[in-house]
Amino acid sequence: MESRMGFHYSLQLLFLSTHMFCFIAIAQRSTYIVHLDKSLMPNVFTDHHHWHSSTIDSIKASVPSSVDRFHSAPKLVYSYDHVFHGFSAVLSKDELAALKKLPGFVSAYKDRTVEPHTTHTSDFLKLNPSSGLWPSSSLGQDVIVGVLDGGIWPESASFQDDGMPEIPKRWKGICRPGTQFNTSMCNRKLIGVNYFNKGILADDPTVNISMNSARDTSGHGSHCASIAAGNFAKGASHFGYAPGTAKGVAPRARIAVYKFSFSEGTFTSDLIAAMDQAVADGVDMISISYGYRFIPLYEDAISIASFGAMMKGVLVSASAGNRGPGIGSLNNGSPWILCVAAGHTDRRFAGTLTLGNGLKIRGWSLFPARAFVRDSPVIYNKTLADCKSEELLSQVPDPERTIVICDYNADEDGFGFPSQIFNINRARLKAGIFISEDPAVFTSSSFSYPGVVINKKEGKQIINYVKSSAAPTATITFQETYMDGERPAPVLARFSARGPSSSYLGIAKPDIMAPGAHPWLLLMQLELQQC
Ligand SMILES: *[C@@H]1O[C@H](CO)[C@@H](O)[C@H](O)[C@H]1NC(C)=O
Ligand SMILES: *[C@@H]1O[C@H](CO)[C@@H](O)[C@H](O)[C@H]1NC(C)=O
Repeated sequence: MESRMGFHYSLQLLFLSTHMFCFIAIAQRSTYIVHLDKSLMPNVFTDHHHWHSSTIDSIKASVPSSVDRFHSAPKLVYSYDHVFHGFSAVLSKDELAALKKLPGFVSAYKDRTVEPHTTHTSDFLKLNPSSGLWPSSSLGQDVIVGVLDGGIWPESASFQDDGMPEIPKRWKGICRPGTQFNTSMCNRKLIGVNYFNKGILADDPTVNISMNSARDTSGHGSHCASIAAGNFAKGASHFGYAPGTAKGVAPRARIAVYKFSFSEGTFTSDLIAAMDQAVADGVDMISISYGYRFIPLYEDAISIASFGAMMKGVLVSASAGNRGPGIGSLNNGSPWILCVAAGHTDRRFAGTLTLGNGLKIRGWSLFPARAFVRDSPVIYNKTLADCKSEELLSQVPDPERTIVICDYNADEDGFGFPSQIFNINRARLKAGIFISEDPAVFTSSSFSYPGVVINKKEGKQIINYVKSSAAPTATITFQETYMDGERPAPVLARFSARGPSSSYLGIAKPDIMAPGAHPWLLLMQLELQQC
């Protein structure tokens, strides 16, 4: 009975599509995401997967065969059934055209890549262990957070299970082993891991997945998971800055990791597979910090799959994106997604400059080591003060003892702090004092060489001191963390994407702002602000 119906199905398809074939032997195939209406599934099929594989088989039988670089036939990549009904498959244009004529077909669009968005926060949010939100939610103890990202580093202190009770009985997920990851790495905190890369392999079957497991190789996934639900990790700091006990906002919640982003690629087909599995496994909410650049709502798979998750009672929390501050720059702006913007807290990182005359000035620094710039000569020289020329800088006498002042206004031609610090480094100078108010400076990707960034007003004081002193000197200390009561906080980060959602202007988004702007590491800017 079944095979007869399958045969009819093929015949029908053949009949519908014969007119369009013109004996092409080579047809480039792509992966498509295909939405189907399950209520129209012919009842000969025992389950949805059977329907999907029979559909591909009948297309294979009815469309004249063709080969491309990687595929000699259409191929099913994933079947989806929890966040929406459908599949992903490698198809040629003719095969897609044939598919469109089959009963139950709703829509199809090409698989596409997805881009990632990027210790004191709980105090800043006034979360208190003895009263309010934290105790009344048991620190999130019964909540399972599905983190869809680039995996996890299971050895991190944030993912140990000290103090965690038994895993909730309703959890249905697995701890899937793979490269450098075995089942003993899951515990009562990290209750499950899985990974999805068939979409990458469908795009290019010759790719070798270098970390074929849920292990994180970029840090993005571990970072996001720890912000959401990391356990208490004592003695954490960023190279001496922000010391304290790191913890997630829900430190007792459980983490289930669904890795769909690999260094070899990040595809929608894998993302949907991850979300489909998370909902099937019984997560309570999904955290995802990825998005698409301006695509229509009907092709926005995160939005469509999140709708399906919401219908099953799973909240999807997603980052607004880091393409601010332009109006309408956000992703994930559908009404059913909790869309999160990124803000600054009141915490600042600093280095303190002490001039030979005793004047102390606090500037911004993230130089990751203890002080060793002590009573060093300081020079200010108009011809090299833009710190643009490594050659001029290297002619400074006694460079290894000398601090140079760089006071070039960075935004004039885009020549800014990163190049200045690079040149100071190459010229082997002792340290730099950078006079700048360019906001981009504070989002610099690294602070690899000793120095502090000082505002223009204080910069003038330093220059006056250097000009008027016979032997000006300075000492710089690093690794200082302080709470800035003067600068308003929380404040929306400049990079945080703004609403409204371009797919529907009538809905105000983002929904909430959360601390998520780390004034160091551009990497974190690329990260998700929410998690
Ligand atoms: C998993 O890997 C760890 C570290 O390599 C090892 O200590 C442990 O015995 C392994 N567990 C299993 C079940 O193989
Ligand atoms: C993948 O690995 C195999 C075996 O090591 C190698 O022959 C092949 O060239 C690699 N492919 C790519 C795309 O790097």
